[in-house]
Amino acid sequence: MAAFGLLASAAPLAAQSQAPHDPLTPRGHWSANTRGRAALPPMGWNSWNAFNSDIDEAKLMASAQILIDSGLAAKGYRYVDIDDGWWLRRDQPDGRMVIRAKSFPSAAMPDGTTSFRPLTDRLHAMGLKAGIYSDIGRNSCGQVYTSDFANQPEGSVAEREVGLYGHVDQDIRLYFADWGFDLIKVDGCGIRGLPVTNPKVTSGYLRAFDPIIDLETLGRTDIAKVKALYGSVADALARYNPDGDYIFSICLWGSADVRAWAKDMGNISRTSEDISPNWSRMLHNFDSAVRRPLYAGPGSWNDPDMLFVGTGAFDADHLTEARSHMALWAMLNAPLMIGYDLRKATPALLEVLGNPRIIALDQDPAGNQAVLAYDSDDVQILVKTLASGEKGVAIVNRTAAPVDAQLTADHLKYAGKAPITLTDLWTGSDDSFTGEKTLHLAPHQTLIFAAKGTRRLSDGLFLSEMPGSINPAVDGVVVPEDEPLIHRGILPWQGTRGTGQHPRYGGWGGAEADATPFGKMLGSGGHDFHTGIGVLAGSRLEVRNKGYARFQAQVGMDDSARDRSQPVTFFVYGDGRLLARSKPVAFGDAPQPISANVRGVKLIELVARTPEAVRFPDPVVWGDAALVQGK
Ligand code: GLA
Repeated sequence: MAAFGLLASAAPLAAQSQAPHDPLTPRGHWSANTRGRAALPPMGWNSWNAFNSDIDEAKLMASAQILIDSGLAAKGYRYVDIDDGWWLRRDQPDGRMVIRAKSFPSAAMPDGTTSFRPLTDRLHAMGLKAGIYSDIGRNSCGQVYTSDFANQPEGSVAEREVGLYGHVDQDIRLYFADWGFDLIKVDGCGIRGLPVTNPKVTSGYLRAFDPIIDLETLGRTDIAKVKALYGSVADALARYNPDGDYIFSICLWGSADVRAWAKDMGNISRTSEDISPNWSRMLHNFDSAVRRPLYAGPGSWNDPDMLFVGTGAFDADHLTEARSHMALWAMLNAPLMIGYDLRKATPALLEVLGNPRIIALDQDPAGNQAVLAYDSDDVQILVKTLASGEKGVAIVNRTAAPVDAQLTADHLKYAGKAPITLTDLWTGSDDSFTGEKTLHLAPHQTLIFAAKGTRRLSDGLFLSEMPGSINPAVDGVVVPEDEPLIHRGILPWQGTRGTGQHPRYGGWGGAEADATPFGKMLGSGGHDFHTGIGVLAGSRLEVRNKGYARFQAQVGMDDSARDRSQPVTFFVYGDGRLLARSKPVAFGDAPQPISANVRGVKLIELVARTPEAVRFPDPVVWGDAALVQGK
C-alpha cells in the first residue's frame, strides 16, 4: 500500500528519520565495501594448508608453474599467496621488514636489503597475482601460539615484532607500492593472545598486548577497537593501490562479530577458525558461513577458509568428500584457494578443482550466495539464483549413512506443475522431473545441479533470491550474540580437553533470507511466509534495483517476537526519497501489504522502525518481498 496519505499523521516518525546521525536515515547509496577488486570471489593457491610455515621460493614457484601447466590458472586460479613463514625481522630503527632471503633467494638485493619485487614480477609475468600475509597485532600467530613453527622471526623483541601494529602505513606501502603485491591476508593473533600474564610476556620474549579479542566471549571483545584497526588497513590499501587492484583478506576467524562488519571494509573475511582435513571440521567451517548470504556479495565475500581438497578426508581416496567440499564452497561463493601441494596432484583431484561448471557456479556474476531451502542436521538443500535466472542446487548428505532426499519444485521457487531440468554439474548429464524427485545420496555425498524450470514469480525476483544485491546496512542487532547453529567438531589441536566447543561466532540475529534472524520460519499475525527477509526492528536494508518497476511485500512483526512492547512501522525509500510506508503494526496484527513504484530507482532502502529503541529488538518480516516488472 503506497500510504502517502498517512505521512502527515506520523510526523514524529518522519522527523526522526531525518535526524543527521540516525543510522536508519536513508543514504541513497550502497554502503557495503566496493574498494579492492572482488566483483567475484578470488581464486588461487595459498601455501598454508600445503606447507604450514615451511614455505620457500622453490615450493611457491613450483606451485605457480603447476597452476599454469595444469590449466587451473586459465580457469581462474590466479592468486599465489604466501602465508606465515616469510619474514625474518623488522629492521631497527627504521622499521623496514626484512624477508627470509635464505628461503626466498630472489629477495636478496645487491645492496644488502631484501625485496619481493623480483618474485612478484615473475608471478605477474606468468599472468598470476601475488599475495602476502601479516598480522594486525605486533606478533604473528606462530609467535603467539606455535613457537615450534618453522621460520620464526629472529632478533630482539622489537625486531621480532613483524605484525602491522604501529606500522600499517609503512608496511602496506612497502608490500603494495614497492613490492607489488595484489592481496594481503591480515591475521589477528597479535591482538588476542598476549596478556601480561602470558609466559612469553613474563619471560620477556614478547611484549604484552592487552587482548581486545576473546574468541570465547563477545563480552570480553572490544569490537570497536578491532574494527578500527582493520579499518586503518583498509584505508592504507586504498592509498597505496590507486588502481584499486587488490584484495583485503580479513582473518579474524569469526571473532569480534566480524561477520556483521567485514562486508563494509574487506573483500573476503574468515567466518570461523581454521579448517582441518576432516569431514567434521569442514562442516563446522561451512556452517559458519551458510546462514550469512545477506552479508556477502560482489565486493565482499564470506570466507569459510581455504580448500583442503587433496588432503586427509578429501584426498584421492575420498573423492566423494573432496567433491562435496568443493561443491559446498562453490554454493557459498567462497574464495577458492587451493591449499594443497600441487606437485602431488592426481588427475582425479585436478578434475575436482578444475571442473568448469562448479567454478562457474562459484564465479556466477550475480554474486548470490546460496540460501538454505531445506535445513536439518542430516541433509541440507541449498539453492542459489544465477545471473541467467536459472538455479544452482546442492543437496548434501552430512551423515555417514546413505539417505534419500526429496527435492521439490518449492525448494527451487519453481512451479510444481511444469517440468524441471536438472543438469548434473559434475558430469554435465541432464535429467528432468515434475513436482518432486527423490534423490539417493551416498554417505557424505553432495549432489549438485543447475536447475531450469518455470519460475513461481514469473515477472521478477523474490528478495531472498538476490542476497548478493542486498546489504543489511543496519541489521538491528544491538547486543551481538554467538550463533548456536554451527556443527561443533573436536578441535584437532585441543582434543576433548576442557569443556568443549561453545557457540563462539557473532552473527546470531542478523538478517536472513527465507527465515527469521533466529533461524525460524517467517510468520506474522498467524500467517506463514515461505519466502521473505527476516530482520530485526531498527534495521535498514539496501537493495540494488536491477531495472524492476515495483517493490512489493507483506510486512509485520514476526510471531516469534518476545519484547512486543513497540509497534513497528515499515518504510520504502527509492534513491533516498520516501516512496511508501505502512501503518504501525503490533504483535499479532495481520501482515500489511506495502508496495512502491521503483521504476528508474537504483537503490531501494527498506527501513523497519520502532518509536523507542529497545535493548533486544523484535524480529520483523518483509514477507514475500519481491521486485517485479508489474505496472
Ligand atoms: C592462523 C590462520 C591460518 C594461517 C595461520 C598461520 O591460524 O587462521 O589460516 O594463516 O594463522 O600461522
